[in-house]
Amino acid sequence: NSKKYILAIESSCDDTSAAVLSNAKVLSNVVATQEIHKQYGGVVPELASRAHQQNIVPVVHQALAKANIDKKQLSAIAFTRGPGLMGSLLVGTSFAKSLALGLDIPLIEVNHMEAHILAHFIEDADQTAPKFPFLGMTISGGHTQIVKVTDYFTMEVLGETLDDAVGEAFDKSAKLMGLPYPGGPLIDKYAKLGNPKAFPFPKPKVDGLNFSFSGLKTSILYFLQRETQKNPNFVEEHMNDICASVQHTILEILMDKLQLAVDQTGIKQIAIGGGVAANSGIRSRLREAEEKLGWQTFIPKFEYCTDNAAMIGIVGYLKFTKGKFTDQSIAAKARYAI
Ligand code: KG4
Ligand code: ZN
Repeated sequence: NSKKYILAIESSCDDTSAAVLSNAKVLSNVVATQEIHKQYGGVVPELASRAHQQNIVPVVHQALAKANIDKKQLSAIAFTRGPGLMGSLLVGTSFAKSLALGLDIPLIEVNHMEAHILAHFIEDADQTAPKFPFLGMTISGGHTQIVKVTDYFTMEVLGETLDDAVGEAFDKSAKLMGLPYPGGPLIDKYAKLGNPKAFPFPKPKVDGLNFSFSGLKTSILYFLQRETQKNPNFVEEHMNDICASVQHTILEILMDKLQLAVDQTGIKQIAIGGGVAANSGIRSRLREAEEKLGWQTFIPKFEYCTDNAAMIGIVGYLKFTKGKFTDQSIAAKARYAI
């Protein structure tokens, strides 16, 4: 049997996830999302690592059971080494190392940011992989990055955020409007009903392909303070227009940078990933770019966009075929560049 079964483990932030892949196909992808952080309006690192500790064993058991695979059939264990929260990464790293040692099978370390990009190569009827070279853009609550991808493991970061991630920009703006965390999906929902040009917000001036979102948050704060002084019900009365305007500004920033990346590299294949890829606005802007600019765009299935172990598993499988294994001396790495 030439099938390789890879168990993959992801614990970089606030989702504990385990997946089993049969070569490049996903047999199971279990994600335990930590609800505890909601009440704090953001991820609390200490609570995240404690929850990983509680979740990891049942999540791995579930992934094996759903895949109908016995642990003795596993070919290797892949895990997220970084980047992420150190306390969270330590749980997955230690677990993966111990299990690989116990089963006496190879261990494969995976860079979480590479995994967001290589998620496009999961074999699934509902998604298509881009061809090399392409531009990868990872947009989530933790990351905002544009990467030139020449081959599976030949990637160059062209630009990234200097402060907040794009998902944070959505969530923090939503919080200023009194919306619950995470506010990104709510902004998306209300934006559909509003006028994107109602309230113009300034776009940050950042050279090259880097991003900055902290200035936008500040200008929204001042704008809302000014308007609610005049009319205490301003936010409730203009929720749709405010959301549409905020979303429009964020999308302009993303699309401007993508356009610049296309101009600089001559590459028109764009593969996006991360939780913000769910945004209906970015999806329609990308479709528009396909029609008007001849771009080809790719979005993985949503469960492979947000943090998940299946994307760690595809990298594990690709590394397995290339003999890229790791030994037991490996340590988690909170800051881990592509
Ligand atoms: O990838 P993800 O689940 O977790 C990480 O941050 O790694 O991404 C979550 C982020 C949150 O900031 C959330 O508000 C944002 O993705 N998000 C959205 C939408 N759905 C999720 N932002 C805008 N529009 C959406 N529809
Ligand atoms: Zn992520």
